[in-house]
Amino acid sequence: MTDANDRELVIRDLRVAPAANPDREILKGINLTIRKGETHAIMGPNGSGKTTLSYALMGHPAYEILGGEVLWKGYNLLDLSADKRARLGLFLAFQYPTAIPGLSVASFVRSAVNAKLQGVDKNPDVDPTDPTRGGLTMLEFRKRMRAKMALLKMEDAFATRYVNDGFSGGEKKRLEMLQMAMLEPEFAILDETDSGLDIDALRIVAEGVNAQLNENMGVLVITHYQRLLNYIKPDVVHVLARGQIITSGGKDLALRLEEEGYGPILREAGLETDATEDLSVPQEPEPAAR
Ligand SMILES: Nc1ncnc2c1ncn2[C@@H]1O[C@H](COP(=O)(O)OP(=O)(O)O)[C@@H](O)[C@H]1O
Ligand SMILES: [Mg+2]
Repeated sequence: MTDANDRELVIRDLRVAPAANPDREILKGINLTIRKGETHAIMGPNGSGKTTLSYALMGHPAYEILGGEVLWKGYNLLDLSADKRARLGLFLAFQYPTAIPGLSVASFVRSAVNAKLQGVDKNPDVDPTDPTRGGLTMLEFRKRMRAKMALLKMEDAFATRYVNDGFSGGEKKRLEMLQMAMLEPEFAILDETDSGLDIDALRIVAEGVNAQLNENMGVLVITHYQRLLNYIKPDVVHVLARGQIITSGGKDLALRLEEEGYGPILREAGLETDATEDLSVPQEPEPAAR
């Protein structure tokens, strides 16, 4: 690659449709460059394609790529399987993580960390289970796990529980943040969908991300709520509407959206709006369910 270096992720003219309905283009040419050390936020009305973008970046099979490229470390990510993308340092925090009864948090996280140790091309000389061949000893793993759990203010006992089994919403978020901390991604995507986000969960995610921000990680926060951006401070805010980034700005853009909804900004971009469309920006997430 001539024009992408290993400190930025470049999305070029990305066009995506649901695999089930490839004629229905949802993302109609997304262009975005996010450098390591930067936090970008994407806001957009319901149905504008925010989740489609996060899934397309991670390689979800329910989406078909119609065109474009995503350049990262000299690869076009769109050519790679989801596991290779993860091995290249991408991370997606799930909004609704799945429970896996019988599998402990520690084993689960260890498998993920080990899977990354072999690198993108699964170097056969590296055996993650063998400390003499590039693997992590149990001692090293436990040390790292304890340090990250302390960073995220988590109790040790959490590691022995089953993955998301009987977890509260907040605990599920904490586990996403722990996975992120242990995998040390270079590019993290957080998609907060439009419902089911309570203030506790929001704070856990924000504190988790803020504790991990560093010069070697780019962050893309996708949110419907301006509120999240009071906790995670974005360097750039983009507005996604009708499958395209229609404008970008600073934090003031997010505040303006909260104030005015999406209508005025869409019209300024020359897009028609109609009264049946929900272009509001909710002010407050739901209070935590107890
Ligand atoms: N797997 C899918 N199959 C069919 N339609 C989908 C699929 N995923 C998303 N869509 C449609 O694409 C549009 C954008 O959805 P989505 O990316 O979830 O928007 P957002 O996250 O911004 O609310 C919606 O109209 C949605 O119904
Ligand atoms: Mg969504």
